[in-house]
Amino acid sequence: MPVRVIIDGKEVVLEKPTTILNAARGAGIDIPSLCYDERLQPYGSCRLCMVDVKGKGLRLACLTTVQDGMEVVTETPEIAEHRRNILRMLAERHPADASGRVADLFKRYGVEPSGKESPRLIDDSHPLLYVDLNKCVGCFNCVRVCEEYVGRLIWRTMYRGEQTIVMPETGRIGTSSCISCRACVDVCPSGAILDKVMGFAKPSSWGETACSYCSLSCPLKVGFDGSGPVYVEGERDKLPFSAECLKGKYHWEDLVYVPERPEAPRLRSGASWSRASWDDAVKVAADGLRKAIAEGGPGSVGVIVSSRLPAEAYYLSQLLARAALGTNNVDAAASALPAAKELEPIGGPLPTTSVESVSGADVIVTVGQVEEYHPALASAIRRASLQGHSRLVVISSPDDKLSRSADVVVEARSLAPAVRAVEAALVESGKADVEGASTALKEARSLALSLRSLGTSRAAKEAGVEESAAREAAEAMASGRRVAVVAELDTTPGVAAESMNLAALSGALSREGSGFVPLLSYFDNYEAVELGVSPSRLPGGRGLSEAKEVEGLLGVKVPAEEGMGTAEMVEAARDGKVRALVIVGSDIASPSPMREAVLEALYRVPFVVALSPTAGVGVEYASHVHMPVASFVEEEGVYISADGRLTLARGTRVAKGALRSWEALSRLLAALGYGRAYPSARDAWEELRRLDPRLAEASYDRIASGGVRVNLRRARPRSW
Ligand code: FES
Repeated sequence: MPVRVIIDGKEVVLEKPTTILNAARGAGIDIPSLCYDERLQPYGSCRLCMVDVKGKGLRLACLTTVQDGMEVVTETPEIAEHRRNILRMLAERHPADASGRVADLFKRYGVEPSGKESPRLIDDSHPLLYVDLNKCVGCFNCVRVCEEYVGRLIWRTMYRGEQTIVMPETGRIGTSSCISCRACVDVCPSGAILDKVMGFAKPSSWGETACSYCSLSCPLKVGFDGSGPVYVEGERDKLPFSAECLKGKYHWEDLVYVPERPEAPRLRSGASWSRASWDDAVKVAADGLRKAIAEGGPGSVGVIVSSRLPAEAYYLSQLLARAALGTNNVDAAASALPAAKELEPIGGPLPTTSVESVSGADVIVTVGQVEEYHPALASAIRRASLQGHSRLVVISSPDDKLSRSADVVVEARSLAPAVRAVEAALVESGKADVEGASTALKEARSLALSLRSLGTSRAAKEAGVEESAAREAAEAMASGRRVAVVAELDTTPGVAAESMNLAALSGALSREGSGFVPLLSYFDNYEAVELGVSPSRLPGGRGLSEAKEVEGLLGVKVPAEEGMGTAEMVEAARDGKVRALVIVGSDIASPSPMREAVLEALYRVPFVVALSPTAGVGVEYASHVHMPVASFVEEEGVYISADGRLTLARGTRVAKGALRSWEALSRLLAALGYGRAYPSARDAWEELRRLDPRLAEASYDRIASGGVRVNLRRARPRSW
């Protein structure tokens, strides 16, 4: 039953009860607060969120749950004075240069900071953090985020009452066991804990890019100074939750300022490397690839795109395989994941709706650890739930942090059986949308029949989940019309298929305003497959049988035979049947659970060319030519998120010795005798657009002005 409340005279309708603070924020009404953060348990210490509840008096908005019919006034003269008094106390010991939310509140309530400060409270001992406890306002957000969210105890409280202060575990942050995640920087409302790089950065030029840490490809603004990128932040205007992810905001440094980043191309000589010019590296790479083809034929070489890259790099990678090496052995690493195959019945693992639309659903179901791999989306989901707009069902391992904001939690030891238990409960309750499901998934009726005969009790027992939780989850899923199922898919077989079945049965694949958002935890570059980085698909979503059109447009011959996909190339390499591989993107052996298998395979390939920003273990020990390319903050070209949002990346500088991916690939193409030249990324993009009607409207200028989205899915579910 929806809950109706009046806040400042405005009627607010909520799907479910929530706190006054969240209800107000969801309705665009700002209640001052310092100690509240959506990621943390409400704490009630700053007392700034005091509001007047009709018939009940003054209440803390962050701790009080709305009730149907409740009337709330968020500011009266009495409340304003109360807030002013609190802020005056904070201002008494606050330095003049107040910053962050505290500075905004000082200004709003006409309070002047005293300007007092003690050098004793300044701690500059950490390489990345600057701590000025003069500015601390005692919200303890840093203490709580470190313990509750990051799972560490770096920040602690000392002394009691008014004397209470926060301190790092060892007294100095630089000698503590801080892991530099900077979650404390993120939640500090007063600038007491600052990021030394970001907090004091003075960018002299700005570029735009898209984060490549996950498949959401959030648009980012990048600040550069004379030495390189120094500042990264999400572009809230283009994608509201893009500013809420610690990954892209801070971890870009792991790709940019690391010792493993060579300042020139490198050539292997025995067990060590020697520096080379780009011309020499490209020549050695081209000669090695030619030699491999001469010895083993074009079928013995291949190209694997191992990470999220601009579309121009995808396009040139598949061209490298087809037009220069004469093979269809080209694939994105993502297609080696079980999810790619399991989601074939619905046209592959790209979302059926935009990620932004997820928070508009009446019911959101998350499967697996969304927070861990896609934190920005997790933030949006958490907010939709906390603000009372959506019911949230979490099916995940017991340590999933999103569970704290959920209405129903199905704790799963093994994910696929747990999801099946919820499917069984949905079918048994008679509320599964079998009719709608069968329009999107051919096997839906037989699936429903088999789940009915399995039964919830048995399914829950087999999964080791609480039967009551499975039934409650099904009940919650059936309580709203618009359902979004978001599944975080690692390499565990079966999870993708069960999530798809759950999405189908709940109406997520067939109803307006609903959707299924499968997300890949590793190698999340499946959009490359739909753009032609595939052993069987060509640019424009064409099959190999439609090669004539591509050949006509490009004037090249496309090999007729279907090539090997990533998994087959890795297997063939392990069997000693691959003579040369080109790996484009980040180190394919570094970030995944497939690492051992990939490494073993790479070691057996006589000639490996790696185009990668850094040198992980695969590049360092198993490659023969390393061409250093731009990281995502320096890249150029069009990033396409899994749900089809386009971002034009325009880094203003690239690291010393590196080239942007499109440029490195076009040089390699030229060295291999391919006749067309690509003087700029735009040339490659324009050629791809001519081959792909889905991109027809997407000129660089239109993308730069924002809001361009394409649908790369092969099957278009009704909910799109
Ligand atoms: Fe409610 Fe601080 S936000 S007491």
